[in-house]
Amino acid sequence: MAKPKVLCTRMLPGPAMDRLREEAELTLNQENRPLTAAELLELVRGKDGILTLLNDSVNKTVLEAGRPSLKVVSNYAVGFNNIDVKAATGMGVLVTNTPGVLTEATADLAWSLIMAIARRVVEGDHYMRAGRFKGWEPELLLGSDVFGKTIGIIGLGRIGEAVARRAHGFSMRVLYYNSTRLEPDQEKILGVTYAPLAQLLAESDYVSIHTPLTPATHHLIGANELRMMKRTAYLINTARGPVVDEAALVQALREQWIAGAGLDVYENEPAMAPGLAELDNVVLLPHLGSATRETRERMAAMAVDDLLAGVRGERPRNLVNPEVYSRHA
Ligand code: GLV
Ligand code: GLV
Repeated sequence: MAKPKVLCTRMLPGPAMDRLREEAELTLNQENRPLTAAELLELVRGKDGILTLLNDSVNKTVLEAGRPSLKVVSNYAVGFNNIDVKAATGMGVLVTNTPGVLTEATADLAWSLIMAIARRVVEGDHYMRAGRFKGWEPELLLGSDVFGKTIGIIGLGRIGEAVARRAHGFSMRVLYYNSTRLEPDQEKILGVTYAPLAQLLAESDYVSIHTPLTPATHHLIGANELRMMKRTAYLINTARGPVVDEAALVQALREQWIAGAGLDVYENEPAMAPGLAELDNVVLLPHLGSATRETRERMAAMAVDDLLAGVRGERPRNLVNPEVYSRHA
């Protein structure tokens, strides 16, 4: 039997790639850069499955170019806002993601940003390297307490919950806002209190975003919301850039409506909003949420498993659009 034809848009870490090479006829982007839209459109032709990154736009045109052979799009990310899932479902193409395996790594990174911005870790490092440290001083680089403060979690999915668990280690009060409210006993187990968004913004010392990007969460945090936050509060975003109006955030940081921000994601990655990089009261990371070797290898194994399942006509484990099956039923 002929091996299925698959495209992988970038080399991934770990042994899963060898498996893909053995079990499929693999087309792999050998360049050390993402595919261009034109390259993706060309390379999807005739493939049974494609393994894509969060910066590959798998739009309707790409999906149509894959017809009629394309059976599955396996996204190497938990988020799948880069894929037109509705169009895929309409064409009977399965879409899969990598939930669960990156939850703890992403929560750790959100926590790295909280600590870094609150305690001025990056500024302190620059200070040392510049040879400016002349000895201990009572008011050198004063930051803010984390222990005992209030954290507001926007989006209490797996990652939001993992952030909440860590917050209890810092004796924090944990508020959350979510599209659906948890059952009271579930709130009790997690030690979280529901708050409408306006209340969460007004009461939190740290606001951390963990929602997927959807039309409903696009610019969920804009100028009005930033103005509702305390002047002493910090905004942390490890979810998706467009959940925050980045131009409004630059203004809020510049004019000190809030104390600071920690960002891992940007509205127009890899670009940053004008002025953002000039500010001292923000810590900036290059989308590293899941970036540990262990996590990225687990994600690769999961994405390859689901890609191979999809091309073989088996049901992938992490299916974003199970409706594809009822559609054929
Ligand atoms: C990373 O941002 C992911 O969605 O996996
Ligand atoms: C990701 O794993 C989430 O649903 O929060």
